[in-house]
Amino acid sequence: MVKAYYEARAREYDDWWLGHGLYDEYPRPGWDAARTELEGWIAGLPPARTLDVACGTGFMTRHLRGEVTGLDQSVGMLEVASEQAPHAEFVQGDALDLPFEDGSFDRLFTSYFYCHLEEEGRQRFLAEARRVARELVIVGTVLRDGAQPQRWEERKLKDGTRWQVYKRVFVPAELAEELGGRVLHENHYFVMVAAP
Ligand SMILES: C[S@@+](CC[C@H](N)C(=O)[O-])C[C@H]1O[C@@H](n2cnc3c(N)ncnc32)[C@H](O)[C@@H]1O
Repeated sequence: MVKAYYEARAREYDDWWLGHGLYDEYPRPGWDAARTELEGWIAGLPPARTLDVACGTGFMTRHLRGEVTGLDQSVGMLEVASEQAPHAEFVQGDALDLPFEDGSFDRLFTSYFYCHLEEEGRQRFLAEARRVARELVIVGTVLRDGAQPQRWEERKLKDGTRWQVYKRVFVPAELAEELGGRVLHENHYFVMVAAP
């Protein structure tokens, strides 16, 4: 379900990052500044052989430095990503069964993917991530007052279709503990954790 949803959302996905379209009136004070700050931290990661898993439209892939490969299951997402991040190579594939040899990368980066995995998927993903890369960097949303840390959300697209999506949001220190790593950056909206 989540795969079909993102394929359908590919051409309007960046509206979420940019506060356009359906997100035009969404109340997110300080969002642009927080996103720009996060992008700066991503650009500040030392250049490395990096695999961006579930790279989507390449919105964050753009900022990764070094020899960068983006992977996603969605052809529509990969088409946008190739336009937005021409410095990277892109591969269609499954994040839970990565089509790479052991130790192929220095770093596996992933933004807004780990948060959509339930327990079994999380364990499969972490095993795959650690098989192909020495370091793992995960980006997600910070838990704020009153929010449910995990929930099924109803998402709507511009064509009126409705989708059910599982989503977690994180207390930064708890995410770091879950991954056995450390918080690299947190602000009002975003957290980025690095783990071995
Ligand atoms: C919320 S988007 C995140 C996109 C991008 N990383 C970002 O932060 O803007 C989640 C992405 O995960 C991809 N995805 C979902 N399940 C996947 C899987 N099993 N293998 C590869 N990609 C997957 C979707 O196609 C979508 O592009």
